[in-house]
Amino acid sequence: MRIQGQHYQSIWEDAGSVFIIDQRRLPHELDFLHLSSWEDAATAIRDMAVRGAPLIGATAAYGMYLAAKTPGVAIEDAAKALAATRPTAVDLFFAISGSLQAMKATTDHATKAAAALQYARDFAQTSAAHCRAIGEHGLELIRAVAQKKPGQTVHILTHCNAGWLACIDYGTATAPIYLAHDAGIPVHVWVDETRPRNQGSKLTAYELLHHGVPHTVITDNAGGHLMQHGMVDMVIVGSDRTTRQGDVANKIGTYLKALAAHDNGVPFYVALPESSFDWTIRDGIAEIPIEERDATEVKYIEGWSEGRMHAVLITPEASPAKNYGFDVTPARLVTGLITERGVCAARESALLELYPEHQ
Ligand code: MRU
Repeated sequence: MRIQGQHYQSIWEDAGSVFIIDQRRLPHELDFLHLSSWEDAATAIRDMAVRGAPLIGATAAYGMYLAAKTPGVAIEDAAKALAATRPTAVDLFFAISGSLQAMKATTDHATKAAAALQYARDFAQTSAAHCRAIGEHGLELIRAVAQKKPGQTVHILTHCNAGWLACIDYGTATAPIYLAHDAGIPVHVWVDETRPRNQGSKLTAYELLHHGVPHTVITDNAGGHLMQHGMVDMVIVGSDRTTRQGDVANKIGTYLKALAAHDNGVPFYVALPESSFDWTIRDGIAEIPIEERDATEVKYIEGWSEGRMHAVLITPEASPAKNYGFDVTPARLVTGLITERGVCAARESALLELYPEHQ
């Protein structure tokens, strides 16, 4: 993805060294971090220097490589610690178990490290390719909407950041938008700010701005109003974990957008790659672990002035706060899932047609 004319991915490796963009500094500063140990990778995930389901997976995969290449590190212990960083995005567990599997056939440290590095590279580049394919399938959905309103702009609402910063490249929810924009379809994006960490106003707006996609940042509560007034043609969001029956965990507030979309007849799509499916569970509300983060993220709002981030208290100091990171949108509210293999209904039978290996 482009920033000031230069192509970036959200994580990269160079001669065995791993680098990330420190997303806590965006949109104000483009800063890079070198991950020199598996502990650095774990900290980057836990402290949200990296975030977004596929990128969490890729960072964990590189973390496993960093563990494997360091003499004296017990790989199983590193795997457990990486798995404990964040609970909801299933890509984390997908990548850790994939890396362990890749290392299984070998015994010495050097070949284990080589296998883990190859796995991490493959995970990252497969994820980018999947996002590109999601973009191509989703583009056709946007094109179909555009054809029904010739000469007019297609308005798409998105929540949180399911863009290239959350993935490796392209993004999930944003990939169809980038491809539609590049194909000359007039699109405009309503960007939910996404309290409390503001991934929408900080990251999605940053991405869209750099790609030249028209967009408007709105408060999290504005979507229903816009939909009631015919100002949203479709919603596209990402997912941290989707069950085999199509229940979708995504950033807190996604469910309320799905309810508003349902009430107003606005199509509600979820874009996700293979690594964000959890085939072991059906009922998302009962079975998906929902991350609860520190209450200070709710009580303080972060902003930029005089060259640095500042946190400002916005509640009475003594008021308690709760900070649920995700919610679950039941499959019945999802118009369709946009995957790298095509678009399907959020239903087990439809998903199994696309992914027959999970019968
Ligand atoms: O808490 P975050 O920033 O990791 O949450 C990210 C999201 O909820 C994204 O929408 C989701 O990971 C899909 S990313 C392609």
